[in-house]
Amino acid sequence: MDNRAIGVYDSGIGGTTVFKDLNKLLENENYIYFGDTKNLPYGTKSKEELLAISSSIFDFFAKKNVKAVVMACNTTSSMVYDEIKSRYDYEVYPIIQIAAKCIAPRYNGKMGVLATIGTVGSNKYKQALLKNNKNLEVFQQACPDWVKIVESGDYTSKKNLEIIEKCLRPLIEKGCKNIILGCTHYPYLTQVLTQMSEGKVNFINPSMDFTKFIKEDLTRKNFLSEKRLYEPEFFVSSNPEAFKIASKGFYELDKLPQLVIL
Ligand code: DGL
Repeated sequence: MDNRAIGVYDSGIGGTTVFKDLNKLLENENYIYFGDTKNLPYGTKSKEELLAISSSIFDFFAKKNVKAVVMACNTTSSMVYDEIKSRYDYEVYPIIQIAAKCIAPRYNGKMGVLATIGTVGSNKYKQALLKNNKNLEVFQQACPDWVKIVESGDYTSKKNLEIIEKCLRPLIEKGCKNIILGCTHYPYLTQVLTQMSEGKVNFINPSMDFTKFIKEDLTRKNFLSEKRLYEPEFFVSSNPEAFKIASKGFYELDKLPQLVIL
């Protein structure tokens, strides 16, 4: 057994869509969540920038003596996981590599992936899905403005609905009936997306598959915590108030996250 905390991070509130399931499935664990709101969005950053940012976050978690870090961020999973994992001695769980392995075998035919510019440009989701199921035909669509829309909490204004619709339409026109939400921010838009597609598309939030895998892996390695020692701790790199308000849809924080400058 190992009572040390699990670190969870993302550029902002996106990781709460994963954290919600982790907290539910692994309720004895201690958590430290870091939302890098100062550097948001990650999706338009270069690999060098993301390496520098991720290194300081991983150092932060190392100082907190975590036993594992959950990359609740598709963009860093696709662009820097391979470089960064071997530099730290705790477990690192990247969302894309694990989610694609779980999801791919369950589907056939046309599969859409909605993600950031960085994730789409890396081709990592497509490669990982095809590696696990040759019968898939994968179509990717970058959604450059969606993360900012989710962080703003405004999914109803005409302007934002048009932006969302513009990126969804190409995948619907290609005939994708199953679409992976390949950015952890996007599950906040599930209701809007379902309405836009008139309920004809199955939007896949990879979070539960990812979380189940993490649970199995920690169990196999005898790394589970016996009991929760403290309530989940939240840290952000800017604007704690905005984080607390915008994250409400997935996880209600009982106090403001702590501001930390890395
Ligand atoms: N939510 C993250 C992801 O899954 C990061 C999005 C961003 O900051 O652009 O890719």
